[in-house]
Amino acid sequence: MKFITSNKGKFREAREIAEKFGIEIEWLKMEYEEPQGSQLEEIAKRSAEILAREIREPFFIEDSGLFIEALNGFPGPYSSYVFKTIGNKGILKLMDGISNRRAYFKAVVAYFDGAKISVFDGIVYGEISPEIRGSKGFGFDPIFLYRGRTFAEMGEEKNLVSHRRIALENFFRTISGK
Ligand code: IMP
Repeated sequence: MKFITSNKGKFREAREIAEKFGIEIEWLKMEYEEPQGSQLEEIAKRSAEILAREIREPFFIEDSGLFIEALNGFPGPYSSYVFKTIGNKGILKLMDGISNRRAYFKAVVAYFDGAKISVFDGIVYGEISPEIRGSKGFGFDPIFLYRGRTFAEMGEEKNLVSHRRIALENFFRTISGK
């Protein structure tokens, strides 16, 4: 089965998890246009439907986002756009003076088995840090606090608890029947 992503880090992480379930995955390095939508599940499913018209063999994709409670779930499905525009500094500015810092990352996997599409998700809860901390990781990792440390301070340890890990394990467990 193929994992369609332009992100090498995501592929490596998925390959390692898949191996535990006796599943071999191949990297199909490719960028694709994501349809707009207000739910990650819907966006991932629609992206997979579009890709399935071209790629007729089994594949999966993964899409994720950061959801901040005090901002009613913003940036959510718009996470990559918000990261590119206002970035971590912008998020901290929006959160200035807000005491409810609760947030979560969510990852959605959409899997095409050659005939139909199924969706799996994973969530990790944490808080928005008062300041940017740590230099490992990517994206919102330096402002996402998990049990006292930011994801960017955790390095490899992040991959053991991340939203992506949970979604991928859910997915591989289901299809392997383990
Ligand atoms: P993607 O479309 O799934 O690659 O992710 C959308 C955006 O969410 C990315 O641009 C990142 O800014 C953010 N994001 C997703 N997963 C993570 C993560 O594990 N750590 C930090 N930021 C993330």
